[in-house]
Amino acid sequence: MTNKYMYFVANWKMFGDLRTLNTLKKVITFVKKFKKKKFKLIYCPPSTLINPLSKMFKNISIDVGAQNCHSNANYGAYTGHINSKMIKGVGAKYVILGHSENRQLGENDKLINSKIKSAIKTGLKVIFCIGETLKEKRKKITKKVLANQINKGLNKIKNKKNILIAYEPVWAIGSGMIPKESDLFKTINFIKTKVKGAKVLYGGSVNNKNIISLKNIDNIDGFLIGGASQNSNNLIDIIKKTYN
Ligand code: PGA
Repeated sequence: MTNKYMYFVANWKMFGDLRTLNTLKKVITFVKKFKKKKFKLIYCPPSTLINPLSKMFKNISIDVGAQNCHSNANYGAYTGHINSKMIKGVGAKYVILGHSENRQLGENDKLINSKIKSAIKTGLKVIFCIGETLKEKRKKITKKVLANQINKGLNKIKNKKNILIAYEPVWAIGSGMIPKESDLFKTINFIKTKVKGAKVLYGGSVNNKNIISLKNIDNIDGFLIGGASQNSNNLIDIIKKTYN
């Protein structure tokens, strides 16, 4: 059983519309009643739902985050983009940056670094994602890859207190596979030695079954949950089991 303050980040990706919000009523009831332990639940829906969700969570300690933002905190001619100020303005407190799905679409470490700087300056908290591909894991260069992502992504950022790191092996995302407990413990430790004092979350195929073993890895400070977070019952189950 864990006694730690844990973060649960629900990453909805490109799923959900206004009707989906009805399914969150049970999550609100659960959070109100579940006084067992201190934890922070953060919903990161598509941008279209940031404002409705913030309103829905007005009187309850569930926070809302965005899944990405532009690196320029000012208005500008960037068709299709939104910036950190705009998402903060509609209620977001967090933003996920460096997610592998966006890295795969061409976001590089330099761009991610400028996005992080912009988000921090605006007063958002950042969930900074890092992780190795299967090929890199097989080549046994996971540490090198992570160190590189950390060094470049956090380049010239002195105050890291508003940055949570999410370790998400690319091969574990949406695949049903998770790292071995001992590997995960070591990797999280490695990240914590690179970024002193950092809270490190794990993400990649977290569900209400494997949480039973994941929660035993005691250097993990929380979970970034994709697929399983779209179902309120599953998400509630994950939180409950973390504390059982
Ligand atoms: P998953 O996604 O839980 O569906 O694997 C995690 C993520 O991409 O953040």
